[in-house]
Amino acid sequence: MPATLIDGKKIAAQIKQEVKAGTEKLKADRRITPGLAYILVGENPASEAYVRMKGKGCEEMGFYSITERLPANTPESQLLELIRRLNHDRLIHGILVQLPLPEQIKESRVLTTIDYRKDVDGFHPVNVGRLVTGQECLRPCTPVGVQELLVRSGNDPGGKHVVIVGRSNIVGKPLLNILLQKQPGANAVVTMAHTGARDLSRLTKLADILIAAMGRAESIKGDMIKPGAVVIDVGINRVEDPTAKNGYRLTGDVHFPSVSQVAAAVTPVPGGVGPMTIAILLRNTLRAAQGNIYSD
Ligand code: GUN
Repeated sequence: MPATLIDGKKIAAQIKQEVKAGTEKLKADRRITPGLAYILVGENPASEAYVRMKGKGCEEMGFYSITERLPANTPESQLLELIRRLNHDRLIHGILVQLPLPEQIKESRVLTTIDYRKDVDGFHPVNVGRLVTGQECLRPCTPVGVQELLVRSGNDPGGKHVVIVGRSNIVGKPLLNILLQKQPGANAVVTMAHTGARDLSRLTKLADILIAAMGRAESIKGDMIKPGAVVIDVGINRVEDPTAKNGYRLTGDVHFPSVSQVAAAVTPVPGGVGPMTIAILLRNTLRAAQGNIYSD
């Protein structure tokens, strides 16, 4: 039987409804409007799509939002200066610097300069450390989006064997730490795999829940998964397609035609994890505006 589709758009819409209600309450009770600053250095077609979706999301929520665009040759000192200014801006509760950055700018210096209480990406070392030790913090958007997709689609990871393929700081590593927590919606047994594995297929076949996040187009095939597994595809890759209008199409890290014949449930690309990332970014911005995350 073909797999059921996990509808990321629908689940993201539920979360956005909750964020909108929370925003209205924050405005009514405390006269605070959540504010998000988005910084883009240089030009990148993938980032442009993200900027548009983020802008639309902020508008729907009733947030204040600004986008700062800097040229690709911006010196690091100028970017750090902008971040410091936004750290002190009382109208801004969340700061997101789009990655990757041009090579003259050191990513680690940028991420540590953002006030960790405004770090809606959850990439500051304080937030990374607090996540690993299970303390309250702002958590990375895409991994939390994956967790919410699982829980809200009736595939709670508790007690299951989750295999993550891909060890990035943005997805794989934080997701490992989220799903390992002894908490509702987590409590999984997690295996961290990656493209350097000697026999990747042997590991992926062990998964009750398989997360593909290695950034290689359509590389998880149907014969690499256990029948009945739940498969979450975090990848977004451009592949050439002469039949497409613009000469390319977007595809995930999962080979959908073969995997959907074996899996119980799978996320589509687009329309799976992508909309969840934006929804969690909005929720993180609301949480940052509410404050009190770091009281312990
Ligand atoms: N580039 C790709 N994904 C992300 C993300 O989640 N946050 C930021 N800041 N940059 C990214």
